[in-house]
Amino acid sequence: MEAIQIGTTVLLLHAFPVGPEMWEPQLDAFAGYELKAPGLLGRGDSIDGWAEQLLAETEDDLIAVGASMGGYCALALARRAPERIRGLVLVGSRASADPPDGRAWRDQSIALVRERGTLALWETMRDYALSASADPTLIEKANEMVASQDVEDVVQELVAMIDRPDSTDVVRSLSCPLLVVAGELDEGVIAESRELIGLAGDGELVIVPDASHLVSFERPDLFNPVLLGFLERCTA
Ligand code: MLT
Repeated sequence: MEAIQIGTTVLLLHAFPVGPEMWEPQLDAFAGYELKAPGLLGRGDSIDGWAEQLLAETEDDLIAVGASMGGYCALALARRAPERIRGLVLVGSRASADPPDGRAWRDQSIALVRERGTLALWETMRDYALSASADPTLIEKANEMVASQDVEDVVQELVAMIDRPDSTDVVRSLSCPLLVVAGELDEGVIAESRELIGLAGDGELVIVPDASHLVSFERPDLFNPVLLGFLERCTA
């Protein structure tokens, strides 16, 4: 009997509260790879639940690339199925859980999005998500992505992030390469990004100049070559 051929899928997991369209600059550039950018919206209010669904959607091994919230999901994949993860990329993301005061500000976000909609929430985040020098067409694209999200789907994402566990142990126990990418201006993640690299057995940190939180979206010209090198290494 012939062995089943297991390939490798590169899963691009989007940030909050944008959508999988944030990966268009990568989907266009990595035609030689099996790339998927699944939506995380509408999958329920548990990041472990999202990971379980994603694992069931393919038999392939995975290179999990997660931007911020997508990174939380990438870590959940690595926790649940470490034997299927050939590489992990955290882009502007963290392994730590929310801080103790996190529930209060997540609850404020839930109230805001329910009262005034997804764009009102985005207005409180946009200056952090994208740098002041971001191309206006990117800002417009991000606005469109956020405006098209369903309010209750966004609430579910917020609930899922509140309840996510600390995943530092996952980074410590990784047996695959870890790439951490952070925008130079993303003060919320830079310090933890440096720490994570020290915890992983095979970790690399790339800081992208003049970029903020949504670094792969804002600077694909700098991010894509870094990701390409990592994919080549993980699939060699
Ligand atoms: C994101 O960009 O996905 C968010 O910053 C994640 C979060 O709110 O923790």
